Amino acid sequence: MKVLVIGPGGREHALVRSLLRDPNVTEVHAAPGNAGIAEIVPTHPIDANDPAAVAALAVKLDSDLVVVGPEAPLAAGVADAVRAAGIPVFGPDKAAARLEASKAFAKAVMAEAQVPTAMARVAGNAAEAADALDVFGAPYVVKDDGLAAGKGVVVTADRGEALAHAQSCFDAGGSVVIEEFLDGPEVSLFVLADGRTVVPLAPAQDFKRIFDADEGPNTGGMGAYSPLDWAPAGLVQEVIDRVAQPTIDEMARRGTPFVGVLYCGLALTSRGTRVIEFNARFGDPETQAVLARLKTPLGGVLLAAARGQLDTVEELRWAPEPAVAVVLASENYPGTPRTGDRIRGLKKANRLDGVHVLHAGTAMDDDGYVVSAGGRVLAVVALGDDLEDARERAYAGIEEIALDGGQYRTDIAAKAARGEITVPGVRAEAKGN
Ligand code: AMP
Ligand code: GLY
Repeated sequence: MKVLVIGPGGREHALVRSLLRDPNVTEVHAAPGNAGIAEIVPTHPIDANDPAAVAALAVKLDSDLVVVGPEAPLAAGVADAVRAAGIPVFGPDKAAARLEASKAFAKAVMAEAQVPTAMARVAGNAAEAADALDVFGAPYVVKDDGLAAGKGVVVTADRGEALAHAQSCFDAGGSVVIEEFLDGPEVSLFVLADGRTVVPLAPAQDFKRIFDADEGPNTGGMGAYSPLDWAPAGLVQEVIDRVAQPTIDEMARRGTPFVGVLYCGLALTSRGTRVIEFNARFGDPETQAVLARLKTPLGGVLLAAARGQLDTVEELRWAPEPAVAVVLASENYPGTPRTGDRIRGLKKANRLDGVHVLHAGTAMDDDGYVVSAGGRVLAVVALGDDLEDARERAYAGIEEIALDGGQYRTDIAAKAARGEITVPGVRAEAKGN
């Protein structure tokens, strides 16, 4: 099977790496890829957001499957164009990708499907925003309705800051969703869907804020680990029964079946499991940690989803070792990142036992050196005997790598490794995911 992977990031590097390990996958191509992906497969410098260009490349390469990584190509209709060219594609059509591209649409689908989520109001101007803030009270949660690369959400106790964020979205011609604050730990659960049938991956936890102890602004994600030994037993089944299957059924009922990953961003609150957000794709960097543990060959599973045959797939197999991914970001990320700096030590890090490096914002300069080319530059992924061991290995890898101005969090998976994560209302013995 020949597979084309669309996207430039760490998630795509993880997908390519896993696909290469599938014995039934004979060839992998990527577009546009990054410096790390270009080391292992041919890359093609096309605009990943251009549906016609992606479809033409897939036809030219005689691809058997196209896997779309990021949200922007999905929202632009890349999957529609590839499907129209007669090639199976893992990733939703534009109409189904609205589950991520519009938070207001996602809320409407959840309401229809009776999926538990935060109470919310849509606001289109300052007066409506002020009203909504006062309905829910502090802490305030204000979300840009459209795509914002994980940076469109402000959670704050400061009403002025909440209003200012709403205003900046209105000024840009958009609207906002304002909702109740959800307490409790967050979980990312990726659910593969073929339009009808759903298959969950192992749950992960992401670290959204830029600084240790969840301080500072939101980012696309600074690290992740999987699985979650602190999560309630039965969490995955609960999310399938109450969230994923009803949502997939509702999308099919609307005539816009969802094929791809339904990324369920959840909060385990004192009042039960609630959806924080849906994404229409694999998470980044959770995928880097989750796929490190997947033993079932990935290509076959994604092709089955693309063909509407997930009901034929055997239960997924996982390595028992936990995985930790630590992101190295550029100076000034999540603001405008400094780029063009040389990255040293990649080979040394890759040689460590149980460790691999996945590139994100990297490029090759004219002298043949790998340089930073984006906000999140790479992730070091490690498997370990336990979470603490995986953490130590990942951080040993990060310490081998030098990038001027580079920043990373030092506390990825730390609380979980110390057994300090508690789910409101869950007894200590009822755990294990
Ligand atoms: P989103 O883009 O919707 O995933 O939001 C990004 C991050 O903001 C989430 O991962 C949470 O950490 C935080 N967040 C979003 N919505 C809420 C909420 N209703 N209550 C508490 N935190 C939230
Ligand atoms: N890590 C969060 C996301 O992919 O949206």
